[in-house]
Amino acid sequence: QCGIAVESRIDCGRDRSLSRADCEGRGCCYVPLPQSGLGGPPWCFYPVCYPGYKMGPLLPTEKGQRATLARSAPSYLPRDIPTLQLDAMPETLGRLHLTLKDPASPRYEVPFVTSQSRGHKDIQNPLYDVNFQPDPFGFIVRRKSNGRVLLNTTIGPLLFADQYLQLSTSMASSVISGLGEHYTPITLDINWSSVSLWNRDMAPHRSANLYGSHPFFLVQEGDGLAHGVFLLNSNAMEVFLQPAPALTWVTVGGILDFYIFLGPSPQSVVQQYHEVIGNPMMPPYWSLGFHLCRWGYTSTNITRTVVQLMRQAKIPLDVQWNDLDYADQRRVFTFDPQRFGDLPQMVEEFHQLGMKYVLILDPGISSASPPGSYKPFDDGLKRGVFIKNSTGQILIGKVWPGPTAFPDFTNPTTQDWWMDCIRVFHSKVPVDGLWIDMNEPSNFVQGSVDGCPDSDLEKPPYTPGVIGGQLNSGTLCVSAQQYLSDHYNLHNLYGLTEAIATHRVLLKVKSTRPFVLSRSSFPGMGRFSAHWTGDVRSDWEQLRFSIPGVLLFGLYGIPLVGADVCGFGGDTTEELCVRWTQLGAFYPFMRNHNDRPNAPQEPYVFSQQAQDAMRTAITLRYSLLPFLYTLFHHTHFSSSTVARPLFLEFPTDPNCQSIDRQFLWGSSLLISPVLEEGAVQVTAYLPPGTWYSLHNGEAYCSKGQYILFPAPLDTINVHVREGSIIPQQVPALTTTASRRNPFTLIVALSVGNWAKGELFWDDGESLDTFEHGHYSYVLFFAQEVQNRPVKLNGSLDGLVLGEVRVFGVQASPTAVWANGQKVHDFSYSPDTKVCNKCLCFILIFKMC
Ligand code: NOJ
Repeated sequence: QCGIAVESRIDCGRDRSLSRADCEGRGCCYVPLPQSGLGGPPWCFYPVCYPGYKMGPLLPTEKGQRATLARSAPSYLPRDIPTLQLDAMPETLGRLHLTLKDPASPRYEVPFVTSQSRGHKDIQNPLYDVNFQPDPFGFIVRRKSNGRVLLNTTIGPLLFADQYLQLSTSMASSVISGLGEHYTPITLDINWSSVSLWNRDMAPHRSANLYGSHPFFLVQEGDGLAHGVFLLNSNAMEVFLQPAPALTWVTVGGILDFYIFLGPSPQSVVQQYHEVIGNPMMPPYWSLGFHLCRWGYTSTNITRTVVQLMRQAKIPLDVQWNDLDYADQRRVFTFDPQRFGDLPQMVEEFHQLGMKYVLILDPGISSASPPGSYKPFDDGLKRGVFIKNSTGQILIGKVWPGPTAFPDFTNPTTQDWWMDCIRVFHSKVPVDGLWIDMNEPSNFVQGSVDGCPDSDLEKPPYTPGVIGGQLNSGTLCVSAQQYLSDHYNLHNLYGLTEAIATHRVLLKVKSTRPFVLSRSSFPGMGRFSAHWTGDVRSDWEQLRFSIPGVLLFGLYGIPLVGADVCGFGGDTTEELCVRWTQLGAFYPFMRNHNDRPNAPQEPYVFSQQAQDAMRTAITLRYSLLPFLYTLFHHTHFSSSTVARPLFLEFPTDPNCQSIDRQFLWGSSLLISPVLEEGAVQVTAYLPPGTWYSLHNGEAYCSKGQYILFPAPLDTINVHVREGSIIPQQVPALTTTASRRNPFTLIVALSVGNWAKGELFWDDGESLDTFEHGHYSYVLFFAQEVQNRPVKLNGSLDGLVLGEVRVFGVQASPTAVWANGQKVHDFSYSPDTKVCNKCLCFILIFKMC
């Protein structure tokens, strides 16, 4: 019974360390190992067939099958749930849904997240097979096509007590991604490691639970196939990984609500996951431009100067931001009468320049202003919008303005109060978007200014390994009461519920696509908000880890994501800031943001050479925005990813499994940034095929190999995949201006001399343009470059297709024709095989 290979032993003492007697008292095996028990294989582990729940007969239900599970003897945990109800629901061909709950008394279940996901009944021939082991209970999910076991939960017991739920499973391979938010590579370390999911205001560093929780993982099975698992549970949890390979979920509440996605490709796993949590929103076009922020623009005049200097330096800028500096005594919904007295005019001026303006909104509402002097609090108090402590008084914590109360966004009254607060503020300061920060929620005192009660919620039988050691560290008492449940259950949803409320307000107030940027996140967030990776340090390591950070959020359904360009904490250097701007030009969301005490890092503060390099990078981004926007359309509509890890696009290439120093935009652009100080070359992996330098069309035929590319300070290497056509637009200082400029095409011919591409185009900000048919959609095909307008409305009227550059033209064209006319000034280089002005014609964008 105890003869289990070391790497497969499942810890029987996660809740506390056990002596031999304690361990054996639990009926577990005690086998000390030479190395320490800490962080390595357990000394106390479950024997084979450790007794647990016994499953009764499976009976058909409307949605699948149901069985009752019962324990014959109690487990070692307090408050066991003796009887469970299992529901197995095949929802689509690739999606299986399994829940385990208490049939006797309802437990907390996650609200909001899966509202739009429903499966079908009567699935014929799904991609999976499920088998149940009745005693002790466990299930095995296999991929039907090849019989591969994807999950096997019979390797350890199911535990289900009031505050401790545990399930272990084997994994089909060691290559696993997800379970954020943490500071990790794109694939996780499975060598006796663990990750905790509990939203926390914490500057990104190793082993810390960070701002968001995403209990979803994707496993690459090794032959190009992949599957994924989502545990819809918002309680504090810890997931343990071990080299068997195997994984153990431990959560401290709620129910076990699993979705299993069979893919079979990694990209389809992501799509299947997003079907459950909702497809990402369609962002406004301007939000894809360059954003500039810092904590420390201490007046409107200083903020105006920043914009002026950017324009003088001729560096594109769409969105100017203000951090908390604007607020009177740091209280949201006010602005400082001296330093920001003319804030409304300033915003108006920015609008005149074709720019947008965003400012920060923290959830903590100052509770210490004299009564009658701060309406958001007075009004909120009257309307009962704030979170209460366990004895029913308003919970007071401390954030930037001092003592603060925290709105409970699960309460419909709070959502209406929030609407009123923003509406009134917006009528004075017509912001274009809102930045919701500190929404884990962050609290500078532990729990509350009065501490927290000594209760089972504050000190559960088991606390996942979180920063600070307690669930109320850096946040509210978890026994605090919200409209829908205890904060214990709802904590990880705080940012999501605030984002939903804020999105709804902007929708109402502006009637255009809302732009919300949230720090805290949970599954489903991408429908409402963008995300940034928080307080990253200005150093090379954080630059490098920003790539997996950004890519993982694409998997989590929040594609509009970026890290603070040039870093937030500490002084940047000129070289780091140039490299970060080059990489940032390929974050889906690009914002340079800096902390108060640091040296400035706006592009114009650096040498002419650095400014030139930054201008080149940002301008390159602007020229590619039509392509980026089209990717966002696909993400919104069919849930593909924007910034994409290589393994999603080349799943059968083993070299791509864990590459996270490079990434793709869609399937066609490969970005290989410099991530090391002093480097002027970059070694980049090119998957098999022909890749063209975006800059000069030089072709590289790769067998799937690393190639050394020059990367002087003014260059980021970007390669275009053979067979693609990239729509671009002549850049300008804002997207308002660039959207009126001619389009251009880059055509990267494949060996077979063909290429294709597409453009989604609409007015960039109206609601649901796709859903209402208010858009144009053009497919581009080469051999002969042809445009096939699939759907046209007025959005392309007056726009011109300018230059077309074709990469990979094997011999000089004898003549170039466009719209029946001979083009005389085309050029061809036999060295690079690039044909410039290879086609040049005016598109007649009229409804046909
Ligand atoms: C914390 C945020 O992460 C940071 O971006 C912001 O500048 C500060 N709060 C101040 O508002």
